Amino acid sequence: MNVVPNSASVESGPIAPKTLVRAGISGLGHRVPDRILSNADLEKVVDTSDEWIVDRTGIQERRIVAEGEKLADLCESAARAALENANLSALDLDLIIVATSTPENLFPSIAATVQNALGARCGGFDLEAACSGFVYALVTASQFIATGAMKHILVIGGEVMSRHVDWTDRNTCILFGDGAGAAIVSATGDDFGLLGFDLGADGSGGELLCCSMVPDENNNGKIHQSGREVYKFAVHQMGESAVRALHSCGLTGEDVDLLVPHQANIRIIQSAAKRLGMPMEKVFVNLQKYGNTSAATIPIALSEAKEQGRLQSGDTVVLVGFGAGLTWASAVLKWG
Ligand code: ACO
Repeated sequence: MNVVPNSASVESGPIAPKTLVRAGISGLGHRVPDRILSNADLEKVVDTSDEWIVDRTGIQERRIVAEGEKLADLCESAARAALENANLSALDLDLIIVATSTPENLFPSIAATVQNALGARCGGFDLEAACSGFVYALVTASQFIATGAMKHILVIGGEVMSRHVDWTDRNTCILFGDGAGAAIVSATGDDFGLLGFDLGADGSGGELLCCSMVPDENNNGKIHQSGREVYKFAVHQMGESAVRALHSCGLTGEDVDLLVPHQANIRIIQSAAKRLGMPMEKVFVNLQKYGNTSAATIPIALSEAKEQGRLQSGDTVVLVGFGAGLTWASAVLKWG
């Protein structure tokens, strides 16, 4: 696997979207399970320590679903909060896209389940790009808006990672948690909204982070990760992808008011901020509370950033994710 994958250089990166109608985020919501699993709890399960986990990752605790609690429940709850925040009803929705790697069923989709639960009258589908999934889904939604075909799209990132964690593997079980975040993506019709993006994948690194749905004698159907290799990939690609997305709309790190990165590891986040020349005060971090909730980290972080008044009209906001695939995805938004 090439640690500097097949990504385009900054100069030959994506072009700024030729937007007919711009798409922005008009509402946000999130839901995490009530049950907290602390580092102290994990000390009782595997040979680890709170000190090691905090030092190497920044994570202090994570949320884990209760018995019988389903991914669609988390997604529905996050979606209801986002609709309320946008002052819209489910009947206003034109489409539902759920970014997830951890549905309980191959079918029906989580999107269809959420559509029914909300009483929406629109189509929906699930999208899988691991931890990059929410940004992939946001960019996908913006295309339907750009053409004028749709006005309001519910985009959810939701995961129940705990079902796929090997709770005997200290290399991985300390990292992940469960949760969902939702955004209403709406036509803005002005200069606010999605300005630029960068999407990428390098499947040659697929085995570095994987989880099989067909367990056999060689795999137990749980998350397997080459932590060091994924770390090197993430440190490189997070910063570069964000730079490419900014370049696509003629901006640099100096123009950014808030960076909302995928919440996997504080060290990876710090290196991305450094690449962008940004102080950590301009970076939103909540991984200490939730760990890595894969496709859900960015929308949960956005939702909390809004609650905390850290998203102001006119701000330039950069979202950047990386994950299994390997994949990466960045988006630049002018907050409305
Ligand atoms: N507690 C105590 N010791 C541990 C633990 C633990 N939980 N886990 C590993 N160790 C030990 C290792 O066994 C090793 O011991 P040794 O030197 O005696 O062999 C030592 O700590 C160092 O191990 P490394 O794996 O080299 O530790 P590293 O500093 O790389 O940290 C980590 C590991 C946190 C996993 C880091 O590599 C990382 O964050 N990688 C990126 C992971 C990531 O972001 N994944 C999510 C991708 S997103 C998605 O799509 C799901």
